[in-house]
Amino acid sequence: MQTGLTGFMNAVVCLCLVNSVILSQAADNMEGDVALSERPIRQSHSLCAGEKEYVHKRKQIVLHSLNTLEINCTAASVPHIALLASGGGQRAAVGLVGFLHQMEKEGLLDTLLYLGGVSGSTWSMASLYNDPQFSTNMDAAVSRLLDSPSVKLEQAVDWLGERAKEEHFSLADIWGVLTSAGIMKQMDLRCLSDEANRNATNPYPIYCATEKHCFTHGPIEGKWFEISPHEAGFTELGLFIETSLLGSKFQNGTLLEKKKEMDMVKLQVSNAAVRANKTSNTCLPQSAANKKNIVRVTVILLYVCRCVCNWLYKVNHSQTEFVEAASMEERKTLFNQWSQELRVAVETWSQSLDDGAFKTHVSFLIKEVIPLIAEWKWGPTGNFLYQYQVSSVPACLYSNERLQLIDAGLVINVPYPSFLGDKRDIDLIIAPEYSAGNMFEDCYVLEGKEKEPTIIYMPLFNRRNCKDAEEFKAKMDEFSTFQRPFSQEKIKFVLETGKENVKNNKETLLKEINKAALRRHNKWKAGEP
Ligand SMILES: *[C@@H]1O[C@H](CO)[C@@H](O)[C@H](O)[C@H]1NC(C)=O
Ligand SMILES: *[C@@H]1O[C@H](CO)[C@@H](O)[C@H](O)[C@H]1NC(C)=O
Ligand SMILES: *[C@@H]1O[C@H](CO)[C@@H](O)[C@H](O)[C@H]1NC(C)=O
Ligand SMILES: *[C@@H]1O[C@H](CO)[C@@H](O)[C@H](O)[C@H]1NC(C)=O
Ligand SMILES: *[C@@H]1O[C@H](CO)[C@@H](O)[C@H](O)[C@H]1NC(C)=O
Repeated sequence: MQTGLTGFMNAVVCLCLVNSVILSQAADNMEGDVALSERPIRQSHSLCAGEKEYVHKRKQIVLHSLNTLEINCTAASVPHIALLASGGGQRAAVGLVGFLHQMEKEGLLDTLLYLGGVSGSTWSMASLYNDPQFSTNMDAAVSRLLDSPSVKLEQAVDWLGERAKEEHFSLADIWGVLTSAGIMKQMDLRCLSDEANRNATNPYPIYCATEKHCFTHGPIEGKWFEISPHEAGFTELGLFIETSLLGSKFQNGTLLEKKKEMDMVKLQVSNAAVRANKTSNTCLPQSAANKKNIVRVTVILLYVCRCVCNWLYKVNHSQTEFVEAASMEERKTLFNQWSQELRVAVETWSQSLDDGAFKTHVSFLIKEVIPLIAEWKWGPTGNFLYQYQVSSVPACLYSNERLQLIDAGLVINVPYPSFLGDKRDIDLIIAPEYSAGNMFEDCYVLEGKEKEPTIIYMPLFNRRNCKDAEEFKAKMDEFSTFQRPFSQEKIKFVLETGKENVKNNKETLLKEINKAALRRHNKWKAGEP
């Protein structure tokens, strides 16, 4: 039965990606605008108040941790250390959990001020941060990954069947099943901005994405998008809104209140209260909650699209090139053709099932789901920079009512842009690099200069755990980015490899953390903040 789910997933995922290339705009479901606030957009290259406060609290924990490691440091000179997790599908998602687990065992996890991610790693981040105390309890995170029973196909299909009866059934529901059930083995969810008021037990999380319009025809400043529990916005432009407002309707910098339909946010399995009230048009808190959920959907979307991109690239490069070069009309034709192929594939699969309630569900879904895919029925993510008359807003953002956040891995597979420069003023970046690529290297240190942070680069498979380039290549193939959800053995292997990465390089890590503390101390002596 697992196999069935996986096959179905793959087919749907594929088509969704293709469609996202074809149709960049979703239907506008927004209605009922009411002026709410004058100037909700923050333009600045410094930290927002919420992050500043969190970081301040987190530094006390970092200080304590450094002192425990016998690293000389005072409250005024706590180094800014960020762990930047790469993309790389389930390999990156699982590897990161192993890495953090060992960081905790070695007493290193609490030296981190920040945890940033793109693509695959945002997946395990979303899952880890579900636990407000995960940093002190990585054993639990590992056992969730290893011992949770897989979500049964029947359960997933039942769930989808229930959602499909509702008014606003959409692709968001499908993604929920694909990702939560299929890979992370849970169907949980929450809102990112709920984390805004947490204490600083965990490093501060930053999720990164890229904006599609700017990615294809915009200036570099419009490309990088970051989402934290407090703010969402364009790193390089320095334009942000509160995370709970991501997806709201804006014009010329003014927030227009809206009652957002549930299309985008129905990935939720458990958020019954929000759903139950979705038609009651009354509560602002709920509509804010809905918008917050967009973040969650986005993060998951990023991951899945990334996997499929790699996969498409691998199976048929000429085909993806063709799609990229095709006109809108050609793309639509191609898409319709693939849509038909999907329908046939799924119908064939469902015919092989035994008669019964389950088969009925599946047939029902075929009727409900495929048309959604054909329409690419997603809710919109409102663009807060729409017609915002400020000179720094590029045309790619000024003129589009909606943002389209896509996988940052398409730009760069490690979230460096959010962590370079004065804003977060990072001293040391620890970069477990778990993306695909032809690197057969070992851990190495890129020494920082006055402004630039030092980077410890740590590939998952490397010269230490692979005897030669051939074994390296075999490992990368075995754990390739796009494949069926890993078996238990594969999960274990990647977890262990992530742990080993930390164990093998503990000395290097400690040495660089020490240097980072010294560097910060010198900055402090020189009178810098
Ligand atoms: C620790 O730093 C203080 C100044 O911040 C210095 O006086 C002291 O000698 C240092 N101790 C060690 C062991 O480096
Ligand atoms: C942080 O909050 C959690 C509850 O989410 C609590 O259990 C924990 O004790 C708090 N830690 C600190 C250091 O305040
Ligand atoms: C946009 O907002 C600015 C600042 O409030 C204002 O000066 C300008 O007239 C507005 N433009 C339009 C078209 O409303
Ligand atoms: C839905 O909203 C109504 C009115 O705002 C409230 O009385 C009710 O308790 C809400 N239902 C749920 C399930 O939260
Ligand atoms: C790849 O895609 C192109 C364009 O659709 C097609 O002509 C070609 O036959 C495909 N190759 C394979 C190996 O599927």
